[in-house]
Amino acid sequence: MTRCLLAIESTCDETAAAVISEDGQILGECIATQTELHERFQGVVPEIAARAHLDRILPVIDSALRQSNASIDDLTAIAVATHPGLPGSLLVGLSAAKGLALAWRKPIVGINHVQAHIYACGMGRQESVFPCIGFVISGGHTSLYHCISPMDWTYIAGTIDDAAGEAFDKVAVMLGLPFPGGPALSILAEKGDSNSIPFPRPLLDDKTRLDFSFSGLKTAVRYRIAGTGKQSWNALALTPQLRADIAASFQQAIIDCLVGKSMQAVKKFGVKRLCVGGGVAANREFRRQLTLACERSTIELHIAAPELCTDNAVMGALAWEKIKMGQFDTLELDAKPGLLRKG
Ligand code: KG4
Ligand code: ZN
Repeated sequence: MTRCLLAIESTCDETAAAVISEDGQILGECIATQTELHERFQGVVPEIAARAHLDRILPVIDSALRQSNASIDDLTAIAVATHPGLPGSLLVGLSAAKGLALAWRKPIVGINHVQAHIYACGMGRQESVFPCIGFVISGGHTSLYHCISPMDWTYIAGTIDDAAGEAFDKVAVMLGLPFPGGPALSILAEKGDSNSIPFPRPLLDDKTRLDFSFSGLKTAVRYRIAGTGKQSWNALALTPQLRADIAASFQQAIIDCLVGKSMQAVKKFGVKRLCVGGGVAANREFRRQLTLACERSTIELHIAAPELCTDNAVMGALAWEKIKMGQFDTLELDAKPGLLRKG
């Protein structure tokens, strides 16, 4: 049996574990989602997420280990995402990792969840994707990084208010779509005309900064649905075509900002390689338009595979990079909910 790693992920509302060999093969994987627990609140409720992780963490780890056929002796270390994330959620994964490390006498390796989202872009490839501009677009992040190597990276810019996924989710609620909103909104957008409503593209034309801002865009959608000043309104009362047009035009405004700013970042730093991960990077229309933009500017683009865009433990393979450098943690390792945006 080759040397392998048990990776644990519980930063937000997915409980996940994976067993990954030293050469990057996924030997076992399990993800338990919590959609049914959060959908009636139309967003992730941190306390509910933490309690659900507690129920699921051991069965999920057990399932990944069984699939892999790995024995405890085969495990080189136990990796766990320790930051950033929801405090209660992080603690469940970290406590499970520490308990197993202690019981099985294995070293523990803490990893950064945002860094892992970028690392996912290179998984399954022979050549390294570093150096690159790393771009993480999820429910908690819309952040650009200058990545010299998997472990050596600097924050460049990010959202000054809502994350892109957060804007997708909130506009989806306005449109009466089910949770999680991003995927539902992108399906509705397929039936709409993305040029029909000229929503704002905040900060896109400001070449002096690479930041994002989505809260004004969200408000513009709200006014388009409800008109100004109305207290009660119902998007389901709109014609189906207008709902779809709002979804498509909103999605296009976000895509223009994401594509535009990432192109500006690549040019500014002179790094002709872009790596994109996080839940919103699963959006089909975004992937299509970013691919075209990169082809036009001869930029090498790596978008994480759709199943590796949303939260998962496979991207915990990043821990091998720390192990190769001899960077192990101790049982003193702590969760750092930290600055969600900068990672
Ligand atoms: O990376 P992720 O699973 O969790 C965080 O770390 O936040 O990202 C979840 C976010 C949610 O906001 C979700 O609505 C969004 O990614 N998302 C999408 C799509 N799939 C997931 N947004 C737009 N289009 C999609 N297809
Ligand atoms: Zn994530």
